[in-house]
Amino acid sequence: MPHSWFWDNEPPPGEKPMSAIKDVAVIIGSLRKESWSRKLALSMFGLASESLKFEIVEISEVGLYNADLEESPPAGRTVFRERIMRADAVLFVTPEYNRSVPGVLKNAIDVGSRPSKDSAWFGKPGGVVSVTPGALGAMAANHQLRQALVGVNVAAMPGPECYIAGVAALFDENGRLNESTQQFLTKFMTAFEAWITANPVR
Ligand code: FNR
Repeated sequence: MPHSWFWDNEPPPGEKPMSAIKDVAVIIGSLRKESWSRKLALSMFGLASESLKFEIVEISEVGLYNADLEESPPAGRTVFRERIMRADAVLFVTPEYNRSVPGVLKNAIDVGSRPSKDSAWFGKPGGVVSVTPGALGAMAANHQLRQALVGVNVAAMPGPECYIAGVAALFDENGRLNESTQQFLTKFMTAFEAWITANPVR
Protein backbone atom coordinates (compact mmCIF):
# COMPACT_ATOMS: atom_id res chain seq x y z
CA MET A 1 0.00 0.00 0.00
CA PRO A 2 1.74 3.21 -1.09
CA HIS A 3 1.83 5.84 1.57
CA SER A 4 2.67 9.40 0.65
CA TRP A 5 0.88 12.70 0.52
CA PHE A 6 0.36 12.21 -3.21
CA TRP A 7 -1.19 8.76 -2.94
CA ASP A 8 -3.27 9.62 0.12
CA ASN A 9 -4.68 12.70 -1.54
CA GLU A 10 -4.95 11.68 -5.16
CA PRO A 11 -8.63 11.95 -6.12
CA PRO A 12 -10.28 8.85 -7.57
CA PRO A 13 -10.09 8.64 -11.38
CA GLY A 14 -12.57 11.00 -13.00
CA GLU A 15 -12.83 13.21 -9.92
CA LYS A 16 -10.27 15.90 -10.43
CA PRO A 17 -10.32 18.78 -7.95
CA MET A 18 -12.23 21.75 -9.36
CA SER A 19 -9.13 23.94 -9.39
CA ALA A 20 -7.54 21.58 -11.93
CA ILE A 21 -10.51 21.82 -14.28
CA LYS A 22 -10.36 24.65 -16.78
CA ASP A 23 -13.63 26.15 -17.99
CA VAL A 24 -13.36 26.88 -21.72
CA ALA A 25 -16.02 29.08 -23.34
CA VAL A 26 -16.38 28.10 -27.00
CA ILE A 27 -17.60 30.69 -29.49
CA ILE A 28 -18.88 29.47 -32.85
CA GLY A 29 -18.75 32.03 -35.64
CA SER A 30 -21.86 30.67 -37.40
CA LEU A 31 -25.53 30.73 -36.43
CA ARG A 32 -26.45 27.85 -38.77
CA LYS A 33 -27.98 24.76 -37.13
CA GLU A 34 -25.97 22.45 -39.40
CA SER A 35 -22.80 24.52 -39.13
CA TRP A 36 -19.58 22.66 -39.95
CA SER A 37 -17.78 24.88 -37.47
CA ARG A 38 -20.11 23.71 -34.70
CA LYS A 39 -19.76 20.05 -35.76
CA LEU A 40 -15.99 20.34 -35.74
CA ALA A 41 -15.98 22.05 -32.34
CA LEU A 42 -18.17 19.30 -30.85
CA SER A 43 -15.80 16.65 -32.24
CA MET A 44 -12.81 18.46 -30.77
CA PHE A 45 -14.14 18.37 -27.22
CA GLY A 46 -13.72 14.60 -27.02
CA LEU A 47 -10.10 14.88 -28.13
CA ALA A 48 -9.02 17.06 -25.21
CA SER A 49 -7.89 16.04 -21.75
CA GLU A 50 -10.52 15.72 -19.04
CA SER A 51 -9.01 18.80 -17.41
CA LEU A 52 -10.72 21.00 -20.00
CA LYS A 53 -14.47 21.50 -19.67
CA PHE A 54 -16.02 23.02 -22.81
CA GLU A 55 -19.26 24.89 -23.21
CA ILE A 56 -20.53 26.52 -26.39
CA VAL A 57 -21.59 30.05 -25.49
CA GLU A 58 -24.24 31.09 -27.99
CA ILE A 59 -23.90 34.45 -29.74
CA SER A 60 -27.34 34.58 -31.35
CA GLU A 61 -29.00 36.59 -28.57
CA VAL A 62 -26.35 39.20 -27.79
CA GLY A 63 -27.97 41.88 -29.98
CA LEU A 64 -26.19 44.28 -32.30
CA TYR A 65 -23.66 46.38 -30.44
CA ASN A 66 -25.01 49.83 -29.73
CA ALA A 67 -23.30 52.13 -27.22
CA ASP A 68 -26.67 53.75 -26.48
CA LEU A 69 -27.76 50.49 -24.81
CA GLU A 70 -24.90 50.38 -22.31
CA GLU A 71 -27.04 51.98 -19.59
CA SER A 72 -29.80 49.36 -19.89
CA PRO A 73 -28.36 46.44 -21.85
CA PRO A 74 -30.58 43.72 -23.36
CA ALA A 75 -30.72 40.51 -21.27
CA GLY A 76 -28.93 38.42 -23.90
CA ARG A 77 -25.96 40.72 -23.85
CA THR A 78 -25.62 40.56 -20.06
CA VAL A 79 -25.93 36.75 -19.99
CA PHE A 80 -23.24 36.45 -22.68
CA ARG A 81 -20.82 38.82 -20.99
CA GLU A 82 -21.22 37.21 -17.57
CA ARG A 83 -20.61 33.73 -19.04
CA ILE A 84 -17.43 34.85 -20.81
CA MET A 85 -16.22 36.56 -17.63
CA ARG A 86 -16.45 33.26 -15.70
CA ALA A 87 -14.36 31.36 -18.27
CA ASP A 88 -10.73 30.39 -17.77
CA ALA A 89 -10.16 30.46 -21.54
CA VAL A 90 -11.93 31.09 -24.83
CA LEU A 91 -11.85 28.98 -27.98
CA PHE A 92 -13.10 30.40 -31.29
CA VAL A 93 -14.19 28.04 -34.07
CA THR A 94 -15.27 30.04 -37.08
CA PRO A 95 -15.96 30.04 -40.79
CA GLU A 96 -14.86 32.82 -43.12
CA TYR A 97 -17.29 35.16 -44.85
CA ASN A 98 -16.03 37.10 -47.84
CA ARG A 99 -12.42 36.73 -46.78
CA SER A 100 -13.18 38.06 -43.32
CA VAL A 101 -14.60 37.23 -39.89
CA PRO A 102 -18.40 36.66 -39.96
CA GLY A 103 -20.13 39.82 -38.78
CA VAL A 104 -22.02 37.94 -36.04
CA LEU A 105 -18.74 36.86 -34.47
CA LYS A 106 -17.12 40.27 -34.67
CA ASN A 107 -20.28 41.76 -33.17
CA ALA A 108 -20.12 39.31 -30.24
CA ILE A 109 -16.50 40.28 -29.61
CA ASP A 110 -17.50 43.95 -29.61
CA VAL A 111 -20.44 43.32 -27.28
CA GLY A 112 -18.18 41.47 -24.85
CA SER A 113 -15.59 44.22 -24.94
CA ARG A 114 -17.68 47.13 -23.66
CA PRO A 115 -17.68 49.01 -21.37
CA SER A 116 -13.93 48.95 -21.91
CA LYS A 117 -13.09 49.16 -18.20
CA ASP A 118 -15.14 45.99 -17.79
CA SER A 119 -14.33 43.92 -20.89
CA ALA A 120 -15.38 40.29 -20.58
CA TRP A 121 -12.39 39.13 -22.64
CA PHE A 122 -9.58 40.95 -20.90
CA GLY A 123 -6.51 38.85 -20.11
CA LYS A 124 -7.89 35.46 -21.13
CA PRO A 125 -5.91 32.83 -23.00
CA GLY A 126 -7.52 31.88 -26.30
CA GLY A 127 -7.42 29.59 -29.29
CA VAL A 128 -8.47 30.08 -32.92
CA VAL A 129 -9.72 27.43 -35.35
CA SER A 130 -10.95 28.38 -38.82
CA VAL A 131 -13.15 26.06 -40.85
CA THR A 132 -14.31 25.92 -44.46
CA PRO A 133 -15.66 23.47 -47.00
CA GLY A 134 -13.35 25.34 -49.39
CA ALA A 135 -9.68 24.91 -50.08
CA LEU A 136 -7.98 27.80 -48.30
CA GLY A 137 -8.67 26.92 -44.67
CA ALA A 138 -10.45 30.23 -43.96
CA MET A 139 -7.04 31.69 -43.28
CA ALA A 140 -8.14 35.30 -43.75
CA ALA A 141 -10.83 34.93 -41.06
CA ASN A 142 -8.35 33.18 -38.77
CA HIS A 143 -5.88 36.04 -38.96
CA GLN A 144 -8.42 38.85 -38.86
CA LEU A 145 -9.88 37.25 -35.76
CA ARG A 146 -6.42 37.18 -34.19
CA GLN A 147 -6.12 40.90 -34.93
CA ALA A 148 -9.39 41.63 -33.11
CA LEU A 149 -8.26 39.47 -30.19
CA VAL A 150 -5.19 41.65 -29.77
CA GLY A 151 -7.60 44.58 -29.41
CA VAL A 152 -9.46 42.89 -26.54
CA ASN A 153 -6.29 41.56 -24.87
CA VAL A 154 -6.95 37.87 -25.49
CA ALA A 155 -3.69 35.96 -25.77
CA ALA A 156 -4.36 33.71 -28.77
CA MET A 157 -2.16 30.61 -28.94
CA PRO A 158 0.23 31.19 -31.86
CA GLY A 159 0.65 27.54 -32.74
CA PRO A 160 -0.16 25.00 -33.84
CA GLU A 161 -2.18 27.08 -36.28
CA CYS A 162 -5.46 25.41 -37.16
CA TYR A 163 -6.89 25.94 -40.64
CA ILE A 164 -9.47 23.27 -41.48
CA ALA A 165 -10.04 23.07 -45.25
CA GLY A 166 -12.42 20.75 -47.09
CA VAL A 167 -14.30 20.15 -43.85
CA ALA A 168 -17.24 18.31 -45.45
CA ALA A 169 -14.94 15.49 -46.57
CA LEU A 170 -13.41 15.00 -43.12
CA PHE A 171 -16.53 13.43 -41.58
CA ASP A 172 -17.91 9.98 -42.45
CA GLU A 173 -21.62 9.18 -42.87
CA ASN A 174 -21.93 8.74 -39.08
CA GLY A 175 -20.48 12.18 -38.40
CA ARG A 176 -17.12 10.80 -37.23
CA LEU A 177 -13.95 12.72 -38.02
CA ASN A 178 -11.28 10.84 -39.97
CA GLU A 179 -8.24 9.53 -38.13
CA SER A 180 -5.61 11.99 -39.37
CA THR A 181 -7.78 15.01 -38.53
CA GLN A 182 -8.43 13.58 -35.07
CA GLN A 183 -4.69 13.18 -34.57
CA PHE A 184 -4.00 16.75 -35.61
CA LEU A 185 -6.79 18.15 -33.43
CA THR A 186 -5.60 16.08 -30.47
CA LYS A 187 -2.21 17.77 -30.82
CA PHE A 188 -3.95 21.14 -31.03
CA MET A 189 -5.92 20.42 -27.85
CA THR A 190 -2.84 19.25 -25.97
CA ALA A 191 -1.02 22.44 -26.94
CA PHE A 192 -4.09 24.51 -26.05
CA GLU A 193 -4.22 23.03 -22.55
CA ALA A 194 -0.52 23.83 -22.08
CA TRP A 195 -1.15 27.36 -23.37
CA ILE A 196 -4.01 27.90 -20.91
CA THR A 197 -1.90 26.61 -18.05
CA ALA A 198 1.05 28.82 -18.98
CA ASN A 199 -1.11 31.93 -19.55
CA PRO A 200 -3.82 31.98 -16.87
CA VAL A 201 -6.36 34.82 -16.85
CA ARG A 202 -4.65 38.02 -15.72
C1 FNR B 1 -19.08 32.01 -47.48
N1 FNR B 1 -18.17 30.97 -47.59
C2 FNR B 1 -16.81 31.25 -47.67
N2 FNR B 1 -15.87 30.26 -47.54
C3 FNR B 1 -14.54 30.56 -47.55
O1 FNR B 1 -13.70 29.67 -47.40
N3 FNR B 1 -14.13 31.85 -47.72
C4 FNR B 1 -14.98 32.89 -47.88
O2 FNR B 1 -14.57 34.02 -48.02
C5 FNR B 1 -16.39 32.59 -47.86
N4 FNR B 1 -17.32 33.58 -47.99
C6 FNR B 1 -18.63 33.34 -47.68
C7 FNR B 1 -19.54 34.39 -47.54
C8 FNR B 1 -20.82 34.15 -47.13
C9 FNR B 1 -21.77 35.30 -46.93
C10 FNR B 1 -21.25 32.83 -46.92
C11 FNR B 1 -22.68 32.56 -46.44
C12 FNR B 1 -20.41 31.79 -47.09
C13 FNR B 1 -18.61 29.58 -47.52
C14 FNR B 1 -18.60 29.09 -46.07
O3 FNR B 1 -17.31 28.62 -45.77
C15 FNR B 1 -19.60 27.97 -45.89
O4 FNR B 1 -20.91 28.46 -46.13
C16 FNR B 1 -19.53 27.34 -44.52
O5 FNR B 1 -20.28 26.16 -44.49
C17 FNR B 1 -19.99 28.30 -43.44
O6 FNR B 1 -19.63 27.80 -42.16
P1 FNR B 1 -20.62 26.94 -41.26
O7 FNR B 1 -21.91 27.67 -41.14
O8 FNR B 1 -20.81 25.61 -41.98
O9 FNR B 1 -19.90 26.76 -39.96
